Amino acid sequence: MAELKLSETRDLTRIERIGAHSHIRGLGLDSSLEPRLVSEGMVGQKTARKAAGVILQMIKQGKIAGRAILLAGQPGTGKTAIAMGMAKSLGLETPFAMMAGSELFSLEMSKTEALKQAFRKAIGVRIKEETEIIEGEVVEVQIDRPASNGSVSKTGKLTLKSTDMETVYDLGSKMIEALGKQKIQSGDVIAIDKASGKISKLGRSFARSRDYDAMGPHTKFVQCPEGELQKRKEVVHCVTLHEIDVINSRTQGFLALFTGDTGEIRAEVREQIDTKVAEWREEGKAEIVPGVLFIDEVHMLDIECFSFLNRALENEMSPILIVATNRGITTIRGTNYKSPHGIPIDLLDRLLIITTQPYTEEEIRKILDIRSQEEDVEMNEEAKLLLTKIGVGTSLRYAIHLITAAALACQKRKGKVVELDDVKRVYALFQDVKRSTEYLMEYQSEYMFSEMPSKEEEGDEESDAMHS
Ligand SMILES: Nc1ncnc2c1ncn2[C@@H]1O[C@H](COP(=O)(O)OP(=O)(O)O)[C@@H](O)[C@H]1O
Ligand SMILES: [Mg+2]
Repeated sequence: MAELKLSETRDLTRIERIGAHSHIRGLGLDSSLEPRLVSEGMVGQKTARKAAGVILQMIKQGKIAGRAILLAGQPGTGKTAIAMGMAKSLGLETPFAMMAGSELFSLEMSKTEALKQAFRKAIGVRIKEETEIIEGEVVEVQIDRPASNGSVSKTGKLTLKSTDMETVYDLGSKMIEALGKQKIQSGDVIAIDKASGKISKLGRSFARSRDYDAMGPHTKFVQCPEGELQKRKEVVHCVTLHEIDVINSRTQGFLALFTGDTGEIRAEVREQIDTKVAEWREEGKAEIVPGVLFIDEVHMLDIECFSFLNRALENEMSPILIVATNRGITTIRGTNYKSPHGIPIDLLDRLLIITTQPYTEEEIRKILDIRSQEEDVEMNEEAKLLLTKIGVGTSLRYAIHLITAAALACQKRKGKVVELDDVKRVYALFQDVKRSTEYLMEYQSEYMFSEMPSKEEEGDEESDAMHS
């Protein structure tokens, strides 16, 4: 691996999977980091939002790396929502990688390899490159007839000019194809990247603004470039270490980035890349941008993973680690020991803990309002009121799910606005946890593998989850 391949990552766009949190557009803080009551899709949970905002500020200033934050609280109190809010407030250049603890057990690679990849997805590299480009107005594109001796490769000539000079370039078949694809013709102003041969059309020359036949309604006119045709330009690419890993590991290749099917990456590849990146940093060609790695449901990790995290946080290039859990005092996976949140004490010791609190009725109503808007569901007052009561009595998540279901019930009767009866109907149709449990208690003997705790054991279980 003499040269690292970077060019292929340039056009990558990152795909976000959100769904349940699509209404969250940030943390909803004002410029002095005070949380607004309702803003950017966020409602209430002010202390946690403010704390998250402070962390965010530190991340943006690049002050902290290798730190870890724990979001702890009951189910449905917005832990994941707050992490998403943080992700949205980070600039596009700061990488944010997210995974659920349980994902580690379903991947076709070792747990520590999966964690390693996750860490490297959360570390960005800003690479400055000087490239040579040729920028000019097309005077003429001339393509030679294929020679009669049967050779298929075409040749031709491209004449470009600036205000000061005019030069003729030889064209190979690749360039001819690229010019044809973009329908480049005389009068266009184009830029050619010398290294990759990539052609970009900048617009049409002002000098041609009177050739009406050669333009559409959206034609962009630009000046004919001045000075030399060849120029040096500095470009900045932002990629993650993981992207560089995948592209440079011979067994994977570029497409693996899209399928996510990256498999294990060999240690030598990573070592080489780290060395190369360190060299670039020394030469001033690259900067490390520590991003954020969010591990949801962190109690799903086992002791091996936790000790990996401990070590990874010590690394100089570590991202900020945010973990979330809804567990109270529970067993650490892979051991017989209990510990707060199921996290070993040595890792807990490194964590700044942000707790989330249950929502008030008013807050639940506001969140349901925002979700209805997000899902384009219109609901009358009565229906909203009932849904809020359901949210208070069961769980916020359950109530959010009923929005979609009630909207379908409404659609079925060809209504436009969700009414009380629609909510009642779906409430009867879909059980919440409480009712379902009551039902199970009553009929457990008729199910397979039922092992309801006896009364004495139940008290023990209580401490396992944070109950409301
Ligand atoms: N403060 C909030 N503002 C707006 N929406 C919220 C808020 N808290 C939670 N939600 C929404 O409620 C649902 C459940 O919250 P979630 O973040 O998944 O809870 P947790 O991760 O704590 O179990 C999600 O759809 C989430 O987007
Ligand atoms: Mg969650």
